Amino acid sequence: MIEMERLHRIWVSPLYRDYLSKIEEREKDRLFCKHDFAHGLEVARLSWIFSLEEGVVYAKDLVYAAAFLHDIGRWMEYDDHTRCHAHASAELAESLLTEAGYSAYEKKLIKDAVREHRQGEEKLYSSPLSVFLRKADKYSRLCFQCSFCNLCYKSEKMPHSQRLIY
Ligand SMILES: [Fe+2]
Ligand SMILES: [Fe+2]
Repeated sequence: MIEMERLHRIWVSPLYRDYLSKIEEREKDRLFCKHDFAHGLEVARLSWIFSLEEGVVYAKDLVYAAAFLHDIGRWMEYDDHTRCHAHASAELAESLLTEAGYSAYEKKLIKDAVREHRQGEEKLYSSPLSVFLRKADKYSRLCFQCSFCNLCYKSEKMPHSQRLIY
């Protein structure tokens, strides 16, 4: 599938791998959910399902790229707790998306969705992609089967806090 080539360029990018390993290193003793590639892939698949369910047509690789990149700046928040990882991720996404061949319009769409994945529901979202990404991020976490959910500040607000929601 030719359109997934751009996504592959992100996946093989040394910069992308470096950010993932920075996150892995900082999360090695973390009890709660990790922000590894498996999480990005889960969010990608769910975002794609939500976009199909809602009948909003985006290029598949664009939806996946947003998900792969949505937490890529998480290591910056670990290093400096005043930083919001959603904003950091959007900033880091810029050069990765440029190298992968995304247009200015596509980059804005993706970066807005990445930036907005932590934003409260009382605010307006830039596009349906932002809504799908945020929802997928929450649905990707299976809090009901996590041993540490009683210690997690947000598990009660998550869709799967008690049981699996379909
Ligand atoms: Fe996040
Ligand atoms: Fe996430």
